[in-house]
Amino acid sequence: MSESMRVLVTGGAGYIGSQTAKALAEAGFEPVVLDDFSSGHRWAAKWGKLVEGSVSDAVLLRKTFRESRARSVIHFAGVIQVGESMRDPHKYFQINTVGTMALLEAMREAGARNIVFSSSAAIYGNPIKVSIPEDHPALPVSPYGESKLMVERLLQWYGVAYGLQWMALRYFNACGADPEAGLGEAHHPESHLIPLVIAATLGQRSNVEVYGTDYPTPDGTAIRDYIHVVDLAEAHVKALRHLRDGGESCALNLGTGSGHSVREVMAAVARASGHRSVPSRDVPRREGDPASLVADASRARRVLDWIPQHSSIDEIVASAWKWHAEKQRLESRD
Ligand SMILES: NC(=O)c1ccc[n+]([C@@H]2O[C@H](COP(=O)([O-])OP(=O)(O)OC[C@H]3O[C@@H](n4cnc5c(N)ncnc54)[C@H](O)[C@@H]3O)[C@@H](O)[C@H]2O)c1
Repeated sequence: MSESMRVLVTGGAGYIGSQTAKALAEAGFEPVVLDDFSSGHRWAAKWGKLVEGSVSDAVLLRKTFRESRARSVIHFAGVIQVGESMRDPHKYFQINTVGTMALLEAMREAGARNIVFSSSAAIYGNPIKVSIPEDHPALPVSPYGESKLMVERLLQWYGVAYGLQWMALRYFNACGADPEAGLGEAHHPESHLIPLVIAATLGQRSNVEVYGTDYPTPDGTAIRDYIHVVDLAEAHVKALRHLRDGGESCALNLGTGSGHSVREVMAAVARASGHRSVPSRDVPRREGDPASLVADASRARRVLDWIPQHSSIDEIVASAWKWHAEKQRLESRD
């Protein structure tokens, strides 16, 4: 395998990172996964060599770049709970922002010039328009979102000063699973809607809480842009190719451009599972949760020629349902 096909995938044992490691391997790249297993899973680290440790460990990074000779990086590693970031901002700036600086320094030393970074729609804060383009004001309302925006700024300045080539991919709501590959979403604690609705339907929790039923949306519940993890993984492969071909550094939204309400997601889970309804409980809105978060995803389509192929709400939910139901079946057998 040519050295130039080696890609360091930080957080490659996590939900989106493992799916991307698989997509990279299928596209002829050689992923080298670096993960500290703080939230990742050994069962998910199936593609490429595994290095166990932290992105904050400069010595380990130096050794990993020297031995792997990877010259490109896809950087997923980080902490992801918005609510926790409100209570413990230090953890978020330390791991997400300072940790990324250690990675960028190691890249500079090793002569690795390409990086694709997991940014987030959380950098926008409360949207001032329904469909959010990349030049929408970036005013995060959580330390999580702020930590991601700070990294985007670091990337820009490293680009200007050191010639780093970068892409910041701002995901909206990652979801869905790849049951055939044994990959799916298993965050602890889980804060994402689809796995929570599925857990309630499978009887793993008594109900799912619906935060806010008085939003100015057709059914009163909040609307989000759900994007299948397999489509996200594909976008990373395309982003990497774009940089390796000398394409321009930039930030891109990754979403479908259309949104679904909480009640629509619950109805999709009911359809996929064959249950008549999902046990749920209406509770007040959470502070800082906007009525609607939907991407203007046209720039990614233009720059990467990326069109989501698996992101209808029914395909997303059916894949996630299949994976979670199978996981429950296997766990109850053990
Ligand atoms: N899931 C989403 O909807 C979503 C949306 C927007 C952005 N993102 C971003 O995408 C990335 C991946 O998210 P995910 O849902 O796959 O999360 P995840 O928790 O499943 O994956 C993160 C991985 O990083 C590893 N990790 C954490 N800190 C590390 C460190 N210091 N050194 C090495 N490894 C470390 C974890 O063990 C885990 O395997 C994150 O950066 C997240 O902020 C996710």
